[in-house]
Amino acid sequence: MIKNLIIFGTRPEAIKMAPLVKEFKMYPELFDTRVCVTAQHREMLDQVLDFFEIIPDYDLDLMKPNQNLYLLTSDIILGLKPVLEEFQPDYVYVHGDTTTTMASCVAAFYSGSKVCHVEAGLRTHNKLSPFPEEINRQITSRITDIHFAPTITSKENLLIENIDENTILITGNTVIDALLDSSNRVKSIQNKEIEFLKNDLDFTKRIILVTGHRRENHGEGFINICNALKEIALMNPEIQIVYPVHLNPHVKGPVYEILGEISTIKLINPLAYPAFVWLMNKSYLIITDSGGVQEEAPSLGKPVLVMRDTTERPEAVVAGTVILVGTDTDKIVLECNNLLNDTVRYEKMSALHNPYGDGKACERIVNHIKELTKEKILTTTI
Ligand code: UD1
Ligand code: UDP
Repeated sequence: MIKNLIIFGTRPEAIKMAPLVKEFKMYPELFDTRVCVTAQHREMLDQVLDFFEIIPDYDLDLMKPNQNLYLLTSDIILGLKPVLEEFQPDYVYVHGDTTTTMASCVAAFYSGSKVCHVEAGLRTHNKLSPFPEEINRQITSRITDIHFAPTITSKENLLIENIDENTILITGNTVIDALLDSSNRVKSIQNKEIEFLKNDLDFTKRIILVTGHRRENHGEGFINICNALKEIALMNPEIQIVYPVHLNPHVKGPVYEILGEISTIKLINPLAYPAFVWLMNKSYLIITDSGGVQEEAPSLGKPVLVMRDTTERPEAVVAGTVILVGTDTDKIVLECNNLLNDTVRYEKMSALHNPYGDGKACERIVNHIKELTKEKILTTTI
């Protein structure tokens, strides 16, 4: 029996690791698969755990209001020590680029487990953008034993860093597995949040969906973003802006202060994944600084304005469905108005593109681990 420990802590990691948990759990005779959540996020993580029906085997419950990187990093490493010592996993799986990713990877390395990195090889090559994620993923890549790269570009990024090609597998992004699963399940379940949105929003109007949270945009960046949204709303009274606001106080503060009183801007709490996917589908365009949303929206045929200067996800920019607008108020307003007023431009951008996967990323990951561990599994079951 191979022992797997899947570790995650924030909303996007949970969404992208949920299908992997499900895939490994299909083979209980081969794998003892356990889930450990750091709970770097609490409410936003629990929304995902509920929807994907995951009950963690270990919950470090670490989130503190307005937490800082120093404390979070050390809490994760110390919190994982007893878990790793008790379970002694053969493989530890981490995802992406958060503090949970980097600190869990370090802890797994100390424990002697092999590290598998899901969504490996994304790079901006700018250590301050996104901060601290670019360095989190570079540290993770140094330690990782098996790199599950979502695209050819991400594999090439790893090769440039002299990572052994034999340790890299291109899988597609597991977010597409989650998106397809969720889109299917949402058709057959009664969802309170979706019912609420149906009653609360006017679907005869075009909807602009907004999310934002990047640390490097805190402060001036968020003030510029909010001013842009305010201007867009005042110039286009016939559209509705819907903004599920991230729970980080550095985000909630300026957003509610600047946008709270504008009648055509609806500020709501973070939505659980199925309702958010449903709303993405209903939207005309999306304005975001999110990594995951940049990957999902092109698969749904939704143009995206990305409020960042750099992106580690160039595939959709190249395909023409994503435009980088940074946090410059005028640029956000200009590009948004262009898409609202120029239907030819809009149609071109909303052509369906899915450079990120086919929904089988997790199957490829599990098959790869099965193949690698075939001999050990055979000897332990004889
Ligand atoms: C984190 C990740 C970022 C990821 C993002 C996804 C790091 C350094 N940052 O940023 O890479 O893109 O998550 O959303 O790893 N909070 C709550 N409830 C929640 C979640 C957050 O109240 O469910 C509040 C808390 O006050 C918390 C604060 O938000 O202290 C910040 O959370 P944190 O995970 O440190 O940073 P994020 O900006 O969420
Ligand atoms: N998301 C969600 N509810 C929301 C906003 C976003 O479920 O209210 C999902 C979204 O579909 C995507 C993920 O959360 O899969 C992105 O998370 P976030 O933007 O917080 O982090 P990032 O991807 O930038 O690391």
